[in-house]
Formats: sequence, structure tokens, C-alpha cells
Amino acid sequence: MTKRGFFVSFEGGDGCGKTTQMRLLLERLRSQGKDVLETAEPGGTPIGRQIRRILLDSANDALSPRAEMLLYFACRAQNVDEWIRPALAAGRIVVSDRFTDSTLAYQGEGRGLTAELVRELHAIACQEILPDLTIYLDIDYRTGLARARARNAEQDGPDESRMEAQAEEFHERVRRGYLALAAAEPERIRTIDARQSLEAVAAAIWAEVQPHV
Ligand code: TYD
Repeated sequence: MTKRGFFVSFEGGDGCGKTTQMRLLLERLRSQGKDVLETAEPGGTPIGRQIRRILLDSANDALSPRAEMLLYFACRAQNVDEWIRPALAAGRIVVSDRFTDSTLAYQGEGRGLTAELVRELHAIACQEILPDLTIYLDIDYRTGLARARARNAEQDGPDESRMEAQAEEFHERVRRGYLALAAAEPERIRTIDARQSLEAVAAAIWAEVQPHV
């Protein structure tokens, strides 16, 4: 690859506010005339959105942990090939709502599949594509879950509650997983306290992103 863009991912437990914060960052970047690709995991591409429906439908409670992990990676492989790699090759900024750190936290720590397995599948699905910068919005899982469940109850769209419906211990392990990832890679993964006001979180995110774009 010759010219390369910049890849930012957002991470955090359910209900950490990352979708709102990601929208604010995108508005700010675009208002400065930056060329940005917005994507999400699971989802993003039209094929990815079909996979997302399977993953988040609470009727699919029989989905096995390995099948779940492979579907998350199938979705990501499509996103990398169809959208992310071409955008980075064209020098664009890519902003993704979640990426492989989610799989390390949710399937690795949460489901107890090993980090080695997740990393092997990452190499197959994403090859060399990894975020240059990851914004991790840290929140205690109880506060986050209460927010996420309230939001799902209000929504009219498809049922997306399968992950939020997991036991509290699952979400506690997910948070521990994120904190360990952030401790292992503090340069790439920047931790921001998501209990602060919306404005304070947005300012902290901008301070991390602005030097790179
Ligand atoms: P998302 O749409 O980001 O939901 P939220 O806004 O509630 O964070 O993600 C959907 C769910 O999928 C969320 O519970 C996290 C989970 N997930 C995984 O378990 N593994 C993964 O690899 C990804 C990308 C998400």
C-alpha cells in the first residue's frame, strides 16, 4: 500500500455512549472538510448488516460461542475488503464503531475463548488492518447496561438485545478484558472516563484524534 489514511476505532461496553460520541467526532471532522468513511462492527456493509441481524437477535440464544465469533469475523472480513482497506489505501480517515478489540473483550474474555484464537482469526479476517488509534470509553458495567437496556426498550427497530441480555458477570468480564487490553497497549488504546459529561468526553476524544488528522 502506498498512501495510507488513518484508522480510528471506538470501543466500550454496552451503553458507554460511543455511538453518540462517534457521531460528534464525525461531525467535527467533516465540518473541517476531512474525507471520512464511517463504519461499524457488526454491520457496516450491506452484507455485514445481514450478519448483524443474526448476531443480535435475542431469538438466537442457541448460537454457540465459536459460531458467534466466526460471524463477527465474517462481518469484519467483508468490511475490511469492501470498505476499510480501499478507504485507507485512498488516504481517507476511517472511523469504526467497534473492531477486533470488541472480539477480544466479548468473545475472548466474556465467552472464555482464548486471545490466541481471536488473534489468529483476526489475522485471517483482517490481515494487516488494525486501528491506528482506539478510543476506549470506560464505564462500570451496571451504569452502561442500564443505559443500553433503556435504549433497546424504546427502539422500534429489530430486536438487538441478545448481547445486552447476557448475565452481569459476562459484562463484568468484558470490562476487565478492555482494561487489560488498554493496559497492554496504552499508546494505541486511549482510555476515557465515560461517566464525565458528554462535552467533557467529546473534548477528551478530540484531544486524542486531532494531532493525527
Ligand atoms: P453495538 O452495535 O456497538 O452495540 P452497542 O451500541 O450496544 O455497543 O454492538 C453490538 C453488540 O455486539 C455489543 O453487545 C457488543 C457485541 N460485539 C461482540 O460481542 N463482539 C464483537 O466482535 C463486536 C464487534 C461486537
